[in-house]
Amino acid sequence: MRLTDQEINEIEHYLQGLHLTKEAELMKRFIQHGSISTYDHVLRVVRLSYYLNRHFHLGASDAELVRGAFLHDFYLYDWHENGYAGRFHGFHHPAIALKNAVRRYALTPVERNIIASHMWPLTLFTIPKSRAAFIVCLADKICSCGEIFTTS
Ligand SMILES: [Fe+2]
Ligand SMILES: [Fe+2]
Repeated sequence: MRLTDQEINEIEHYLQGLHLTKEAELMKRFIQHGSISTYDHVLRVVRLSYYLNRHFHLGASDAELVRGAFLHDFYLYDWHENGYAGRFHGFHHPAIALKNAVRRYALTPVERNIIASHMWPLTLFTIPKSRAAFIVCLADKICSCGEIFTTS
């Protein structure tokens, strides 16, 4: 996957500074998979989602796609550390990320659903309800597999 300079600038525009906050700074310190931080992981998911939407003409809203993808793992802790590790992190963290995100930002229903449903089908009845949510759900799985197998 290769993004043009213009596409990278567009992504930055749609992020509206979400990647420059103190919470984003915190995400740089949490490990997601292998040696990849949560911050790097969500940016990878943002870029891949944007790429898939653009290059396959999937028609999702770029703004919602980018913001939802950046916030999809906004749970703000290191899940490998005591208390958070465990089999149920996969089930619970989308709801925690959503709670954190709505507390700080005014999100559209599509953005909220992107965050809540990104672990589907693990989250059974919390289903991706838009093209953007399906794209992020898929991009997250692709990025996560790549990170697990290439960095651990
Ligand atoms: Fe996640
Ligand atoms: Fe993720």
